[in-house]
Amino acid sequence: MASILELLRTRYACKEFDGRPIDGERLEAILQGARLSPSSFGMEPWRFLVVTDEGLKRELRPLCWNQKQITTCSHLIVIKNQIALVQDEEYIEAIFRRRGLDPEATKAYIQRYKDFIANQDLDCWTQKQCYIAMESILLEARAQGVDSCPIEGFERERVEELLGLDPERERVALLVALGFCAHPRPPKHRLPLHELVTYR
Ligand SMILES: Cc1cc2nc3c(=O)[nH]c(=O)nc-3n(C[C@H](O)[C@H](O)[C@H](O)COP(=O)(O)O)c2cc1C
Repeated sequence: MASILELLRTRYACKEFDGRPIDGERLEAILQGARLSPSSFGMEPWRFLVVTDEGLKRELRPLCWNQKQITTCSHLIVIKNQIALVQDEEYIEAIFRRRGLDPEATKAYIQRYKDFIANQDLDCWTQKQCYIAMESILLEARAQGVDSCPIEGFERERVEELLGLDPERERVALLVALGFCAHPRPPKHRLPLHELVTYR
């Protein structure tokens, strides 16, 4: 089994896919990676729309800086950050109850959560969690031999309108295109560790 470091060294942002489809088993593993990602308070404030419809991909592409990945990928995962859900009483209860704490502790925990989110920009906070799921998707994709590209280059409001989302409830955090890359892996450019890390 490849180490995380090995996956990070060998994955790259694919700029154009060759159109070959990903099989269901690999897709399932990649989505499981997303599902198992950690999130603040365990709220899982993400939902995933998997786009394979070629017509929809064609409509999306001009709203995504005309990037080739959108129409050449096998599966386009739209990661949607959940704004209404994280404020929904029933959902909050269910998420905290499953921890199996006693009722008093659960109540206190929920109150701490509510105090916390009262001071958050919920679009920003839920979007941050989605980026964690993104990384899991990229890594599990690599582990499955699938190439990927995270995509932040899109017109958010227009994509949400095309997908018929109510932005008060959920928004598009980012997209991840999956498939098999049409081009070989480019060299990896990263700053050396000594420029990134300080100790004290
Ligand atoms: C959140 C995020 C958004 C990105 N958006 C795009 C994008 O819209 N289009 C693109 O071609 N690459 C995009 N990238 C890929 C980066 O450009 C790429 O990860 C970076 O240049 C490092 O290269 P590597 O991933 O191939 O090692 C994005 C990466 C991240 C993490």
